Amino acid sequence: MSVENDAPSRSHGRKQVRASLRPRDLMAEDALAGVWTAQVITLVPQAFPGILGESLTGRALKDALWQLQVIDLRRFGQGRHRNVDDTPAGGGAGMVLRPDVMAAAIEAARETAPRGAPLIHLSPRGRPLTQTMAQTLARGPGVTLICGRFEGLDQRVIDHYDIAEVSLGDFVLTGGDIAAQALIDATVRLIPGVLGNAASTEEESFSAGLLEHPHYTRPAEWEGRTIPEVLTSGDHAKVARWRREQAEAITRARRPDLWARHVADRDRRNT
Ligand SMILES: C[S@@+](CC[C@H](N)C(=O)[O-])C[C@H]1O[C@@H](n2cnc3c(N)ncnc32)[C@H](O)[C@@H]1O
Repeated sequence: MSVENDAPSRSHGRKQVRASLRPRDLMAEDALAGVWTAQVITLVPQAFPGILGESLTGRALKDALWQLQVIDLRRFGQGRHRNVDDTPAGGGAGMVLRPDVMAAAIEAARETAPRGAPLIHLSPRGRPLTQTMAQTLARGPGVTLICGRFEGLDQRVIDHYDIAEVSLGDFVLTGGDIAAQALIDATVRLIPGVLGNAASTEEESFSAGLLEHPHYTRPAEWEGRTIPEVLTSGDHAKVARWRREQAEAITRARRPDLWARHVADRDRRNT
């Protein structure tokens, strides 16, 4: 089914555009002015929107609360075979993405990127992706993401464009595309209107510097396990206190690094 057909038409500034769940290839006339924009430079454009086209992020994409521009790196490749990579200088296994090819894709992306959108390379060497990072990106105009493949990107292009590097975690993926989708998902859900219940992003893990408390729902008893009594007491103050205590206990036990930062912030606020 083509989602495009039932997508609403919206007017954004000068243009009358049709929101689409299909990844837009890089076409200036497609860009919606003033809409949070994720640009993704990738060798696997068909992997987008992927999971981002589903559920709440998918609905928001269709409703043009955010937009996606996918830039196929292969288009900028060299020669008959559109080569994008070459052997590593100094020898060794694998291939490296050429700086001239990547630069051509970056230049093309920047033509339609919203002013001030940061350029980020997904890389295991980057700063770990955090909720604070997602919050900062969500407040901005968008982001241009570079998905690496093979052994990665020639360092000169990273230095030339002063590209920030962000990691999904201390493990190695085959390519940056899953990391890009994770970063976009974490960011887009913070854009006003994307989630139905705005309060849910304020209470969830990391937002207050703590991991979240446990959740329960019906049935009241399952496999001999009951819901903690306090949650069915109807006493909202007691529930809030219990949730806070649980969040603190879980953070202290599982993430001593987060807990230490939380305690330091709390002490600073109290002095
Ligand atoms: C096979 S990896 C390259 C790994 C690289 N040779 C290294 O050892 O650091 C290929 C691409 O996947 C992406 N990637 C791999 N692991 C990642 C991670 N933890 N976070 C973000 N991107 C990652 C990067 O874009 C990287 O260029």
